[in-house]
Amino acid sequence: MRGILVTGALGQIGAELTPALRERYGATRVVASDLSEAQPADDSYERLDCAQAEAVADLIERREIGVIYHLAALLSAVAEERPQAAWSVNMNGLYNVLEAARHFGCQVFFPSSIAAFGPSTPRRGTPQATIQRPTTIYGVTKVAGELLCDYYAIRFGVDARGLRLPGLVSWAAPPGGGTTDYAVEMFHAAARRKPYSCFLAAETRLDMMYMPDAVRAIIELMEADPQRLRYQNAYNVTGMSVTPHEIAAQIRQHVPSFAVDYRIDPLRQAIADSWPQSLDSSAAREDWGFSPRFDLVAMTRDMLARLGETTGPFEDPISNEVENANARFG
Ligand code: NAD
Ligand code: SER
Repeated sequence: MRGILVTGALGQIGAELTPALRERYGATRVVASDLSEAQPADDSYERLDCAQAEAVADLIERREIGVIYHLAALLSAVAEERPQAAWSVNMNGLYNVLEAARHFGCQVFFPSSIAAFGPSTPRRGTPQATIQRPTTIYGVTKVAGELLCDYYAIRFGVDARGLRLPGLVSWAAPPGGGTTDYAVEMFHAAARRKPYSCFLAAETRLDMMYMPDAVRAIIELMEADPQRLRYQNAYNVTGMSVTPHEIAAQIRQHVPSFAVDYRIDPLRQAIADSWPQSLDSSAAREDWGFSPRFDLVAMTRDMLARLGETTGPFEDPISNEVENANARFG
């Protein structure tokens, strides 16, 4: 059995995808990699800068890799601050991975994004095949990445598959500098009994998905029968279409005192306003059975329970005070 490589494995997705792959395919088969040196000095992790073509090819050959989950990238907000670096990591990194996959006969997973769409895309029920003219460098690298994966599949027969992921909400690792990070930050603030200043406007509607659904979708797509994949790469997937106001309201079902104010960051607001509000994921459902399990209600309950395990029992201090006062005087 050849090995499985995860690039960018220390990020938000890698922190949950890597253990899921180890559980499914065996711990010794999965090699995690990222830029950091500070990892256990055993075979489970290797430092790898994906922008270095020789290093990518060397690791894939040396570790006899057969499947690559290529997660290394700069996300939307960071990429907009450093567009040249974003091109280098997101495009050269993917090119190096696809070249090595061509040479060594590997299957590749490439995560595209809602960012692959732009202001001229239909924003509601965004179809699988539609206008893609993003106005961010991150989105440009995602559309170019989708096309490059298609090219390597058609021209060289590389089995390159991918999803257009929405904003992902998770508790295990912090998000890496995206426009949808506010959703994760909101849950962390609520779990610490702190107020939250949201950098997007209250009514900004975007697609989101809970990480367990994203991890399952990635694995399901990679295991899907290739004959059934009409698109192979860049399938629209989503778990919910929500606004900051709606997430905060759902959190308040558990933490009535949770306070949010809105201090809008013009850069990230402009990015969000250029993205779809709700993706049509019917092609993924029809072709390989995509079926998310978490809606906003279920995700909120699970996020707060998980974060409560690390921050202590999840109790709302203000409602506790009210209860205590009632007990004293009632
Ligand atoms: P992240 O920012 O949390 O993690 C990315 C990781 O890549 C980091 O650990 C970073 O150290 C590493 N990295 C950066 N430059 C590198 C390089 N040159 N070589 C090797 N590693 C490098 O990102 P994430 O949220 O885990 O996202 C993973 C992938 O999924 C990215 O391609 C991202 O665009 C895509 N995606 C993420 C989301 C989301 O909401 N998290 C949504 C859509 C798509
Ligand atoms: N969550 C990602 C971002 O905001 C979307 O790709 O950048």
